[in-house]
Amino acid sequence: MTVEEKVGQMTQVTIDVVTAGGVGVNHKLDAKKLDDAVLKYHVGSILNVNGEAYTVDHWHEVLNAIQNAVEKSRLKIPVIYGIDSVHGATYTLGSVLFPNAISAAATWNPALVKRSAEISAFQTRASGIPWVFYPVLDIGRQPLWPRMWETYGEDPLLASKMGEAYIEGLQGKDMAARDKVAACVKHYGGYSMPFNGKDRTPAILDERTLRGLVLVPYEAGIKAGGATVMVNSGEISGVPGHANYHLLTEVLKKEWGFRGFTVSDWEDIKRLHTRDRVAATPKEAVRMAVMAGVDMSMVPYDFSFYELLLECVKEGWVPVARIDDAVRRILRVKMQTGLFERPRPDAAMKAQFEQAGFHAANLQAAREALVLLKNNGVLPLSRGKKVLVTGPNADLLSVMNGGWSLTWQGDKEALYPKDKRTIRRAVEAAVAEGSAKYVQGVSWEKELDVAAAVAAAREVDVIVAALGEPAYCETPGNIEDLALPAAQIRLVEQLKRTGKPVVTVLVEGRPRVLRSVTANSDAVLWAGLPGNEGGQAIADILFGVANPSGKLPFSYPRNVNGFTTYDYKPLENTQDNPAGWEFPFGHGLSYTTFAYSDLKVSAPVMARGAGVTVSVTVKNTGARAGQEVVQMYVSDLYRQVSPPNKELKGFEKVALAAGEAKTVEFRLTSKDLAFVGLQNKWMVEPGDYKVAVGGLEGGFALK
Ligand code: BGC
Repeated sequence: MTVEEKVGQMTQVTIDVVTAGGVGVNHKLDAKKLDDAVLKYHVGSILNVNGEAYTVDHWHEVLNAIQNAVEKSRLKIPVIYGIDSVHGATYTLGSVLFPNAISAAATWNPALVKRSAEISAFQTRASGIPWVFYPVLDIGRQPLWPRMWETYGEDPLLASKMGEAYIEGLQGKDMAARDKVAACVKHYGGYSMPFNGKDRTPAILDERTLRGLVLVPYEAGIKAGGATVMVNSGEISGVPGHANYHLLTEVLKKEWGFRGFTVSDWEDIKRLHTRDRVAATPKEAVRMAVMAGVDMSMVPYDFSFYELLLECVKEGWVPVARIDDAVRRILRVKMQTGLFERPRPDAAMKAQFEQAGFHAANLQAAREALVLLKNNGVLPLSRGKKVLVTGPNADLLSVMNGGWSLTWQGDKEALYPKDKRTIRRAVEAAVAEGSAKYVQGVSWEKELDVAAAVAAAREVDVIVAALGEPAYCETPGNIEDLALPAAQIRLVEQLKRTGKPVVTVLVEGRPRVLRSVTANSDAVLWAGLPGNEGGQAIADILFGVANPSGKLPFSYPRNVNGFTTYDYKPLENTQDNPAGWEFPFGHGLSYTTFAYSDLKVSAPVMARGAGVTVSVTVKNTGARAGQEVVQMYVSDLYRQVSPPNKELKGFEKVALAAGEAKTVEFRLTSKDLAFVGLQNKWMVEPGDYKVAVGGLEGGFALK
């Protein structure tokens, strides 16, 4: 390969660069621009859509046109197309839109998450695209952050298990298979912890917190075979993600042995100069990023990266060896995805794009993602009831899908499939004809027809108020106040005054502080971002067709200054300064009851390098079948760096018929007790450990 061809492989542009105009189904490619990109600049990759989702047919046209250009080139190296298939093949019309990650995490069911990834991979590859920018393995511990819903929540073990399952689902054993794609683990690392809560603002993280907490799901994702990695768009303690040699090269590539490639995030190499001001010129920014370990640049609007990197190499400012390493990594992934053998979309897959089983899997995922936070007995509702459905999120599909849904912001309601049900439509279908009324009451921020909603409430048996947030993504989702807007809180207050029971459904990407809403609601169902089957799944839970089994994957704050995670440090919860949550991590009610007994730790002492078995019996003591998430927490009573109150060390979701009991076993080894100590290295310390499962406690000593 010539230097030009190599540097081209490292260049990724957005499809706008090769487009003649038009949006979505009207989008047209520009043959001349495409030839320029592929033949003159040798680009290795193209990404994104022009504005909104395409049909499968149009995707095939796009991918075939790109390959036509490739075939005119000297080396005929296929272009790898990348796309944000974030909760399904989100940029293909008619795709299955699954619960987003925060809701997927609420299922605590990695098998469901894996299945959703398999279907997402199928529909993405059926669209001709072999590379997906997902999963997000940033942990979600900053509830203000507008991308919290793209994460699997606050706990590193839960996020790791979900991430592994997702990667397995996307990539399978062989990424070259016709229905598999390469994953992109993002946004490595620490992006999710902006100090002020706004997107793309600084995180302040020390090495110990990074390694012990933030990087844990990433390492799991790399070990699970994650083929590519996207770089943190923000900065950690003054070092922009794209200039972080330590994380990109020392940790990721050297320590963890990552052999895939890293891709920058959108325009972020340029931003080392224009925004972060760590590089005095655009050229220095290119050199800095490449030398830090970025292998491909999502430039994405021009070929400046290509030109500047070429100059750097020719002037000896960037060694050819670094370019060779980057290109080798990129070509390896192209080989692994089978692109050299089958560079074109598989025409036969078009007819298989739509499958009934896909929608059934989505409905199951959505049902299990719903978390019943409060229920004073009003739920499940009987179908004979008269219901008022109200609130800003009652009659929209976009709000249940959030960003990365058919468009970047996900807010184009008209693009959503007409056969999917909003909450309003699903409730209407569940009750006798004419028994459900709908009055919106308020928008997200403003009162509309509250008086009409209150009047309607007086005529019914029960009120379902669907509150929450609009669809949003990234910086446009920044907020100044975590509280639910006052208009929504007041709506529930006024509905409550009618004396009719209020069931609040929260459709939101992050835990908006509820103020009086909890007290004024007889039941609260957290729906998060449940996807296109969300409306149906919510009705199924409300009317008892399905039994709720979701559990919160984050701590729901009670106050806007109360961001305390479940694994808080002793300092965070003292007599003078008590921690408090609206609803704790791991919480979620069922329509049946479960009782725990016989917690046993197999030995009182664990030797270093060995393990113990923790077993517990869980019984369904209620009258209907249900699923329970058995959660095992371990507390290290003393350690050289202040220990968390407790840490999740195992979980299992079990299905139990009424009256049925099962014994669940967890294996706990001394490795599971490791933490990052004073020397910033993983270590274990002898001492006493407490084990807690379902309100029971046990313990052992590590010798
Ligand atoms: C986002 C990434 C995304 C990329 C490509 C960026 O703005 O931060 O998550 O993969 O755009 O669309």
